[in-house]
Amino acid sequence: MDRRRFIALGGMAAVTAGAQDAGRVSAGGAHPVQAPLILRRIPSSGTTLPAIGLGTSGPFEVGADESARAPLREVLKAFFAAGATLIDTSPMYSSAEAVLGDLLTPAQQAQVFIATKVWTPGSGGAAEQKGVEQMQRSMTLLKHKRVELMQVHNLVDLDAHLRTLRRWKAEGRIQYIGVTHYTTSSYPDLISIIEREKPDFVQFNYSAATREAEKRLLPLCADKGVAVIINRAFEDGRLFEQVRDKPLPPWAAEFGAHSWAQVFLKFVLAHPAVTCVIPATGKVRNVIDNLGAGTGALPDARHRAQVVAALG
Ligand SMILES: NC(=O)c1ccc[n+]([C@@H]2O[C@H](COP(=O)([O-])OP(=O)(O)OC[C@H]3O[C@@H](n4cnc5c(N)ncnc54)[C@H](OP(=O)(O)O)[C@@H]3O)[C@@H](O)[C@H]2O)c1
Repeated sequence: MDRRRFIALGGMAAVTAGAQDAGRVSAGGAHPVQAPLILRRIPSSGTTLPAIGLGTSGPFEVGADESARAPLREVLKAFFAAGATLIDTSPMYSSAEAVLGDLLTPAQQAQVFIATKVWTPGSGGAAEQKGVEQMQRSMTLLKHKRVELMQVHNLVDLDAHLRTLRRWKAEGRIQYIGVTHYTTSSYPDLISIIEREKPDFVQFNYSAATREAEKRLLPLCADKGVAVIINRAFEDGRLFEQVRDKPLPPWAAEFGAHSWAQVFLKFVLAHPAVTCVIPATGKVRNVIDNLGAGTGALPDARHRAQVVAALG
């Protein structure tokens, strides 16, 4: 199916498949993930990706203590059992890459789509070499010989790293090239990078409360055939404070949302340019909740307006 026809089908939610193990996940009292995850197409390759991923900033920044690592093992077990694959991390997130490398089982290593980053602030003109060394270290820590997606974190030393990433992609050491940011003030830069460099992936912030990306960035990604990863779909958890005293409205059930987390994630996934959303959590109950958002129906324009109004 080509991209235009894909989008014309009324959103990529039209495509679901895989997740043979869906329905096996059950923990912490959350609803098990009963249906296959929505798959979205990566425009530059045509292959698909489960639309719910996992962020590691915060929850995976733990030490060697087994009491801190045990819940993360359960998070990963539930995540892969539901058919999800994309995990986002970075050398910026202290121990997260090392923890992930330690916790992923061989079977999970074979399934995972690692999205890590290169991040070299203050490199003093030696960004290219520092980036190479850092990316080699990330692969060692992650115990992952070929990284699926390497992203330039917050656009730091972009041109130096893009040279390396293009070479590494040609050599088969990485599969895809991406760039990331997390603020709306970065959008003008992201827009010119998309137009100039046409990366495989772009990662940025988008939520029911911060919808600036709908104006130019998301339509541009769809138009140029760039895959989109969304961070901060919960505004780093702040969205839950905004609805703390509000019961889940009855209209949420009309698009299959059973929690506010599912409302917020389904809101993001309803945009047809979005490929994958990466909520961060270290709790098995919450990862199951989040995975549930990647199944079944998605909100239509009326529902999306109701979500926005509920936050007002
Ligand atoms: N520049 C960049 O490249 C960049 C910048 C920002 C973020 N990111 C990536 O995007 C990921 C996500 O962004 P984020 O970590 O800033 O924030 P986020 O995903 O918007 O929010 C994470 C917060 O939501 C809570 N949460 C998760 N699932 C929940 C649920 N079902 N119910 C209630 N609370 C829930 C988590 O708490 P619990 O742990 O208690 O569940 C955590 O406090 C990051 O981890 C990182 O991988 C990248």
